[in-house]
Amino acid sequence: MSARESAADYEAAKRAWENAGVSPLWESVVAFNQPPAPQQPLFWQWNTMRPLIDRAIELVSPRDVERRVLMFTDPTLNQSRRATTTKGLNGGLQILLPGQTARPHRHSMDAIRFILEGEGAVTIVDGKECAMAEGDLILTPGGCWHEHVHRGTRPIIWLDGLNSPLHRYLGTADYESGPPGELPATLPDAAFAAPNIIPDAEASQRHSPVFRYTYAAASAALDATPAGRDGSRRVRYINPTNGGPAMALWTISLCNSIPTSRPSRFGPRAMPSP
Ligand SMILES: [Fe+2]
Repeated sequence: MSARESAADYEAAKRAWENAGVSPLWESVVAFNQPPAPQQPLFWQWNTMRPLIDRAIELVSPRDVERRVLMFTDPTLNQSRRATTTKGLNGGLQILLPGQTARPHRHSMDAIRFILEGEGAVTIVDGKECAMAEGDLILTPGGCWHEHVHRGTRPIIWLDGLNSPLHRYLGTADYESGPPGELPATLPDAAFAAPNIIPDAEASQRHSPVFRYTYAAASAALDATPAGRDGSRRVRYINPTNGGPAMALWTISLCNSIPTSRPSRFGPRAMPSP
């Protein structure tokens, strides 16, 4: 068989493969690529962010936008005008003024909030009110209805974290506007307030029944925790019904400042330092 006949045979075979809905992996331009370089660390300083937050307050109202959020963006990842912080997680700063509300909605993406400044607001998660005070962690697991209402006297600012890039990648990103219909039954946080004792109820594997973790409790646990090998102390937020992570796809930790210049590296997790 000549070279020309071989090429013709190959092209005919490719058409047959294509017509049958298959393609030769060995011709894929991406199948055997080296993995991309790891994302470089980025740093957003609070002193830079705070005046920019004030400008967002002046220019934008949550009446006009679903959420007033300044997203942390990595310019190397902003493809197709999709701003994102990391390949799996988005971070941002959300701001609410006294008297303002952020209307109810729900989505498949899990979200966490760490309160950075202010108090007097609540996040209502599946009908359960979660007070927001500085340092608190509030969970809004995927599928849970949530809204924010500010009853305080000064602006409140919190760190938002969502796994929206992961859901977009998986094709599972889903969103629904309120008002919510019938809400699922929830257990009061007070039922989990006694250490090592929980209600004898069905455990949820997907997320914790507790949506608010106070900074007072977390910092007390941190103070009582021995330092690790790098000199830092670290505690994890868990689902009290099974001892696993507070939300299935997340490891959420609180750590103190690391009193050493030894470098540390962490996997994909949410980990603010007080
Ligand atoms: Fe949301």
